[in-house]
Amino acid sequence: MSRIPLVVGNWKLNKTIRETVDFCRSLKEELFSGPEGPALGARKVEVAVAPPFTALSSAAQALEGSFIGVSSQDVFWAESGAYTGEISPKMLADAGCRFAIVGHSERRQFFHETDASVNKKAAALTAQGLIPIVCVGETLKERQEGQAFSVVERQIVEGLKSLAVRSPGELVIAYEPVWAIGTGQTATSEQAQEVQAFIRRLLEKVFSPPIAGGMRILYGGSVKPENIAELMARRDVDGALVGGASLEVKSFARIVQGCLPKT
Ligand code: 13P
Repeated sequence: MSRIPLVVGNWKLNKTIRETVDFCRSLKEELFSGPEGPALGARKVEVAVAPPFTALSSAAQALEGSFIGVSSQDVFWAESGAYTGEISPKMLADAGCRFAIVGHSERRQFFHETDASVNKKAAALTAQGLIPIVCVGETLKERQEGQAFSVVERQIVEGLKSLAVRSPGELVIAYEPVWAIGTGQTATSEQAQEVQAFIRRLLEKVFSPPIAGGMRILYGGSVKPENIAELMARRDVDGALVGGASLEVKSFARIVQGCLPKT
């Protein structure tokens, strides 16, 4: 089944509103004047940026009508109420988001994110018509102890439990081995393919073979313009969740170019 590649820039704790608007304007210019322009217009590749909460609505305004989407980096599951400091799916939709990253390993590691909270967040997002980008991935210790597959299996099964997904486009999975994030040590394309094919088999059981076949599974962890083509050549790598290399317009644009379908 053909899947439209998706590239998402996760900016993490970076960029002010001004810097976000400048970036978005330059990204539009760079992408639409470059070789990826027609493919982007024809929706052969999908692109989104994930600025911090404070800059979401400015990013959405700066990117309006450009086909480049906006994602948040997290969300809370309640619609409203006494939850000081939290942001609901409805507020993200209101700010112009199409996607929301949930379960990023930095949130699991530093902010007590669990598979149960990922599950609630993903359900709240789909109910609001937003697309969760659910992150999974093992630590170095877990890989060394031979637990990479069991950890990812638990994260997928628990994180996606009872999720109402009716079509493949309603959910995105990102495989981000923790040992590859921000380390410069990318997983080999074989390692990415091996786990991502495993994830797709799990998705067949969690949802159905047709939904699993059409769902995008991104790779994340030290993605750069130099390694994107090799990763994308793999059957179950449908795009990238990019951290550091998404903070600079030219390198992010080169990664988008590397995700274009080869026709
Ligand atoms: P890096 O691309 O900086 O390794 O970060 C990956 C990541 O965490 C994207 O969500």
